[in-house]
Amino acid sequence: MTPAQQSVKAAEICALAPIVPVLVIDDASRAEGLARALVAGGLPALEVTLRTPAALEAIRIMAGVEGGVVGAGTLLTPADVKAAKKAGAHFGVSPGATDSLLKACEDEELALLPGAVTATEVMGLLEKGYTVQKFFPAETSGGAAAIKALGGPIPQVRFCPTGGISMKNVGDYLKLKNILCCGGSWVAPADAVASGDWQTIEALARDAAALPRA
Ligand code: 3PG
Repeated sequence: MTPAQQSVKAAEICALAPIVPVLVIDDASRAEGLARALVAGGLPALEVTLRTPAALEAIRIMAGVEGGVVGAGTLLTPADVKAAKKAGAHFGVSPGATDSLLKACEDEELALLPGAVTATEVMGLLEKGYTVQKFFPAETSGGAAAIKALGGPIPQVRFCPTGGISMKNVGDYLKLKNILCCGGSWVAPADAVASGDWQTIEALARDAAALPRA
């Protein structure tokens, strides 16, 4: 899958909802209920971060939840890409981008949202064909103002920012033309996931799904 094809797929996934939940799952037995609650609330695209031993099993389970589109986040190495693909991930997300990671995603046919923040990083990925990129860590890298500024000289790249975004500041991002959607963990608070409080999570998802976009 070429970078251009990956970006087409990434744009389709970003179009599904204004927010992609960023999920840290400690207990795979919570995966199905969590995915069902988020999808029911209107957030079908889900990013499961590969930061816990339960993450790959959670992806396997969530891939079977109707209406969900499950991706793997925190892809750092080619081995992560292989494992994510094998677990059933439909897309991948990386905080940055290395040549070996990009090659692995092309080889494994996994649509990647590669991370960048500086003009040079964004241009480097654009040169390879990635027109949809993750902007991470968003808030500490200049936030919405930085993405707006990048849109001046590089309007052909569109972003999914993540890192430090919440209901308080998400509106600043979603009003920009070069932002497709935002990622955030606030829709799945750790205590609600641990206690299986799916009502709370569905309500948070519903509020996030209703956010207006540019
Ligand atoms: C992450 O990789 O942790 C994401 O960027 C989510 O960040 P957040 O927890 O600040 O939403």
